[in-house]
Amino acid sequence: MSDSSLLELQNVSFAYGEGENLVSVLENVNFSVLPGQRLALLGRSGSGKSTLMNILAGLLLPEQGSVVWQGTDITRLSDAKRVALRRQTIGVVYQFHHLLPEFSAEENVMLPAMLSGQSVAASTRLAHRLLEQVGLEHRVGARTV
Ligand SMILES: Nc1ncnc2c1ncn2[C@@H]1O[C@H](COP(=O)(O)OP(=O)(O)O)[C@@H](O)[C@H]1O
Ligand SMILES: [Mg+2]
Repeated sequence: MSDSSLLELQNVSFAYGEGENLVSVLENVNFSVLPGQRLALLGRSGSGKSTLMNILAGLLLPEQGSVVWQGTDITRLSDAKRVALRRQTIGVVYQFHHLLPEFSAEENVMLPAMLSGQSVAASTRLAHRLLEQVGLEHRVGARTV
């Protein structure tokens, strides 16, 4: 692994189902992401983009290979450690779902920080900074419709 990578996939393979129903989705995928780099993942519907995203985010474990996040292979961590690492360092912004409808945009973004023990004030500051970074500062109070 190169030391400068933020995230590195090494020989990652994944299949759904088994036997006759086996659907092999990823076969020996390798790539690395550098700090500050922006990548677009393109592919036809069903090509495995969501599966790969779930593996990158630590939500799904590959059957083979390593997912090295800032030097740590997250596939070898305990569930508890992987959850803690995800909560502290990995964010996934979904387009359509997984926002809590009772909460505003600000409160949805604050939630992981609060769950990891940060104060309301610190979580609010963080949420505003993150929303600003993605051009959503004018939507802090917005709710899903
Ligand atoms: N939970 C699942 N069980 C079985 N097959 C699945 C499951 N999720 C996705 N697949 C199949 O895996 C392939 C990749 O799906 P997916 O990662 O959702 O692709 P994409 O996001 O590029 O549309 C598709 O053939 C899809 O039908
Ligand atoms: Mg998808």
